[in-house]
Parts: sequence; C-alpha cells; structure tokens
Amino acid sequence: MVDIAAPDLHAHIEADDASDIDSAFGTSIEDGSFTTSITSSVKNYTLKLTDQSHHIFRLILGGALYLSPIGNAPQSVLDLGTGTGIWAIEFADEHPETRVVGNDLSPIQPTWVPPNCTFFVDDFDKEWPYNTPFDLVHGRELEGSVGDFDRLFQQAYEHLKPGGYLEMQTMEIFFYSDDGTHEKAINCLEINRLAREASAKFGKDIHTVNTWTDRMEKAGFKNVKQVTRKLPISPWPKDPKMKELGRFQLANMLEALDSYTLSLFTRVLGWKKEEVQVLNAGARSELKDRSIHMYCKVHFVYGQKPESSRND
Ligand SMILES: C[S@@+](CC[C@H](N)C(=O)[O-])C[C@H]1O[C@@H](n2cnc3c(N)ncnc32)[C@H](O)[C@@H]1O
Repeated sequence: MVDIAAPDLHAHIEADDASDIDSAFGTSIEDGSFTTSITSSVKNYTLKLTDQSHHIFRLILGGALYLSPIGNAPQSVLDLGTGTGIWAIEFADEHPETRVVGNDLSPIQPTWVPPNCTFFVDDFDKEWPYNTPFDLVHGRELEGSVGDFDRLFQQAYEHLKPGGYLEMQTMEIFFYSDDGTHEKAINCLEINRLAREASAKFGKDIHTVNTWTDRMEKAGFKNVKQVTRKLPISPWPKDPKMKELGRFQLANMLEALDSYTLSLFTRVLGWKKEEVQVLNAGARSELKDRSIHMYCKVHFVYGQKPESSRND
C-alpha cells in the first residue's frame, strides 16, 4: 500500500503567514532540508537538476514509483518516453528479477545501467516492436508529447499481459489556489493560457489528463482509477513537508520555464524570443512570491487489462 504524501483536492493547505512577508528564502538545492529529503527517498543516484521532477514524484508517492497493484514479482515492465531513464533504472534496481525496457526518441540515457534494464531508441507513436507482453506499461510526463492518446492506450492494452496495468503519471503546469491568490499571478496565468493554445495548435495538447480515464476504459481497461494530489509551487505552506515539496517544485519550475515556453511560443505563436523572456521574468517573480498560494495538480491514472482477455 503506497502512503501518498501530498494532500488530495479537498484538503486545505494552511499558508505560512510569516513567510508572506519574508522574501529572502532559499531555493538552492544546496539547502539542507532539501537534500536530506532527497537522499532519504532516493538513495543510489546522484541528484541532477534535470531529474528533479522524478524526485518530486517519488516524494509525493512516499518513495514509491507507481500506484498500480501489480504485485511483488512483475516479470517485465515498459517505460514509455523514458527521458534520462531514471524511473526505469530505479525500477530495475529495486526489482532485479524484472526485465525493464525504456524507450525514447532521443538516446539520452546513461550506458551504465542495471543489467536488467535496456533502452531503445523508438517512437511510441509507431507500431510497438515488442514481442513479449508486459506486466506494467508506465508513461510519465508525456502530456505535450502525444498526438493520439487513444492509439497509445490501445497499443499499451495490446502489449500487456491479461491482468497487467497501464499507469500514466503527470504533473499539470496549470496554476490553482484555494484562496484566489493565483489571480495575482497574471504572467503565470498568461503562460498557462498561451501554452494550452500553442500545444493544441501544434497537435499535442498539454492538458489532456482529464480525458484519460474515459480513453482507458474505451481501450478496454477495467478498474481505472485517477488519483490527484496538490503540489505547492513554492514554500508558501506552513506544514514543513509541504514547504519542502514547494521548495523543490519552485526550483524545478524556475529551471524548466524557458524550455517549456521558448520554442513553443516562438515557433507556434510567432513571438520574439525577447518577448517570451519578459513574460518568463514576470512569471518567475510571481512564482517566488510567497503571498501567492498556488499549487498545481499531480495525477496518477491507472487501469487493468482484464484477466479474462487474451493476447492473440
Ligand atoms: C517530459 S519528458 C519525460 C521523461 C520521463 N518519462 C520522465 O518522467 O522522467 C518526455 C519524453 O518523451 C520523449 N518522447 C516524446 N515523444 C516521443 C515518442 N513519440 N516516442 C518516444 N519518446 C517520445 C521525449 O524525447 C522526452 O524524453
């Protein structure tokens, strides 16, 4: 049973009023509490800034890598769009008997990996080349990378064993608050609106998560569940664990903002690079403003291929 650390959508996160007037706060990964948390949840790998969201996902899941009840002895697992491969590598490390496969368009994975972990350069939009069915197909942070989720889920279904699970995980970049303070973050809200518009125009919408349960059921999955948690986007909460998650997420967002907006807004919306930089500078100040109590939503959507189905 996974002990999820972040609050659900009905839970109220109390703000740390003292921090609203204290603008001098640490966002550095050198910060002591930050590294303590990371080292306790992720033991074996050196922290890299690019893998920050992986650590946030693990912290939210209380150290776990997935929610699907796949049992203790999965034989084979596929990680779609594996990126740096960190999820696949850690899964392989923690399950030495499992054959773990990761695919990606880019060969950016390390070569020194556990012996039960293999990476392929492969396009998951094309016909999948795998002959052996999987116990778990996992895809994380793939919003904005998929043109046709129905087809993706259908292929996952076809490549799972009967009783196997598909699990999709995603961190929304849309900003919410329960006290209305997000309305002060006009640059952040503008980025949300433009990113949605640009990604849809490009054909790979970044906000599809709320269609996933229906699409999974349409593909044939049963017992489909969506678990959603709040993730503070800066250290504004009072609760020390929430504050730490927020500190982590702030560093993540400050780092990711340019890569998330620059090419999308210049190529798809025709903006000048300097215009995007001005918008991002405004958004960065808002993200760091602790009187703005914003959070984003992190979703885990998973479903099971029926036991009675066959792999023909
Ligand atoms: C935001 S990253 C997520 C990486 C990883 N899943 C994680 O959570 O750490 C999205 C990844 O999907 C990959 N990707 C995008 N489209 C793909 C496709 N059609 N086939 C395979 N990989 C793809 C990108 O190259 C990128 O590495």
